[in-house]
Amino acid sequence: MNIDRRTFLSGVCGATAISVVAPKLGSDVVLAAPLSVNLAADPLRPQFHLLPPANWMNDPNAPIFWKGKYHMFYQYNPDGAYWGNMHWGHAISPDMVHWRHLPVAFSPTPGGPDADGCFTGTAVVQEGKVVVLYTAVQSVPRAQATIKEGIRNLRETQCLAVSDDLELKTWTKLPKPVIARPPEGMQVSGFRDPSPWRIGDWWYMVLGAGIEGQGGAILLYKSKDMRSWEYMHVLARRNDEGMQDLSPFNPWDVWECPDFFPLGEKYVLIFSTLRKSFWQSGTLDERSMTFHPERSGILDYGSYYAPKTQLDKSGNRILWGWIEEDRPLEEYKAAGWAGLMSLPRVLTLDADGRLRSRMAGDVDQLRVRKQALDVLAGEEGVRRQIEGLRVGQCRGEILFTARRTSEPFEFTLFSPADSESPCLTLGYDPRFPAQVSIDDRPVPIALSDDEKIEAHLYIDGSVIETLVNGQAAWTKRFYYHGPARDMCLAWSGKMSSLASLTVWQLAAISAGP
Ligand code: FRU
Repeated sequence: MNIDRRTFLSGVCGATAISVVAPKLGSDVVLAAPLSVNLAADPLRPQFHLLPPANWMNDPNAPIFWKGKYHMFYQYNPDGAYWGNMHWGHAISPDMVHWRHLPVAFSPTPGGPDADGCFTGTAVVQEGKVVVLYTAVQSVPRAQATIKEGIRNLRETQCLAVSDDLELKTWTKLPKPVIARPPEGMQVSGFRDPSPWRIGDWWYMVLGAGIEGQGGAILLYKSKDMRSWEYMHVLARRNDEGMQDLSPFNPWDVWECPDFFPLGEKYVLIFSTLRKSFWQSGTLDERSMTFHPERSGILDYGSYYAPKTQLDKSGNRILWGWIEEDRPLEEYKAAGWAGLMSLPRVLTLDADGRLRSRMAGDVDQLRVRKQALDVLAGEEGVRRQIEGLRVGQCRGEILFTARRTSEPFEFTLFSPADSESPCLTLGYDPRFPAQVSIDDRPVPIALSDDEKIEAHLYIDGSVIETLVNGQAAWTKRFYYHGPARDMCLAWSGKMSSLASLTVWQLAAISAGP
């Protein structure tokens, strides 16, 4: 169904939202009129990515496939389009693409360990119920704090909540944390974002931390019942062999949002720090529970942070990430919304243990109109066809493959309203065969001699997600004034290097703002 998100509104999020309605796409809810009108008219607001009905979101939390539906929770501020007062927003989907907003799942409990915020967490199924472990924060005197930032002194503890309802709308929180303090003797600069998984009779859990004087680290815990946890050891740390170059040295840096999971024959660790998200793949010695990383890299070179994975209904490992704003706070505050969820990416490992990602096939169902290039039409013919291609209203998908010859090429996406400053460029120069350049910044790729460059772009309002050969990802934000734009394409270099080029117009996923 191709109903524009701007044409009607959906969703309730937050204690402050006004709940009514059951519009055409399901039991969604409308917002207060002035805000909904502004959001509906905002051409920068993405149309086929998941984002809250209004206000701020950051990390994906606890994505899970449960009773035939996908659930996505996310860090959410019901008070406005800025970080603070962390709640968990909630949306449900049959296919990881079309979403319906549900009421806020978690709010801070006055007087409880999460009185000042419900931070990031993970969902698992235990004995037929969905159990969430999340980080609770509470203001405390400085001596008890695990986050000491200027005037903000917060204690992070790990808390548990259970739900067994069909739509995961009702949750029972344990009144006390399941992990109340960092390991004995460890001074931390952060202690958060639990991520449990199971091996045999045991639950294990990774937790993000910064260790005083050492920097980012991932702590490992174990438990028989998810309620009583025993600290084991540091699973990974910044100072490990080969890891130092992952982030510039900062003894107080915290490795946030860890996720640790088997993939193929290996284990993969992901974590975020200093505004980037990283992966390591290697082996897990299940007797000693030690991780031996062999390969590492960056998950996305752009505005992409705090990713989290889940298994889809076919057992694929799906990666979700928070697409951040890249404009000043005052601008997004005024816009009334900030942040969105990336599209689902399927993770695999190649034969050398390198992490690969491609868009989940479910996203293809958004394609509504296809324009394919006849690459055999000759230099001039191909050039003319490219000039005629359009991504209407900044909402489409582009896929091209290009031969690597002795000639450089550059693909450009631009709006005729502003052809001086292109929206995105992606180029290849044979002098540097192990990289492409996106917006003139080098991005490493490793291709065999006869392999073509394959670039896949998803353009939506003010975001472009670009994947190159499944090896490199670059999520870009772009902003402009005025009405929604059509995007044009240009190719510099020999047309004969273009092996294929297809543009699809994509449908909006919901009828809301
Ligand atoms: C990552 C993060 C997490 C934390 C959450 C708070 O973006 O800092 O470590 O749990 O955001 O919103």
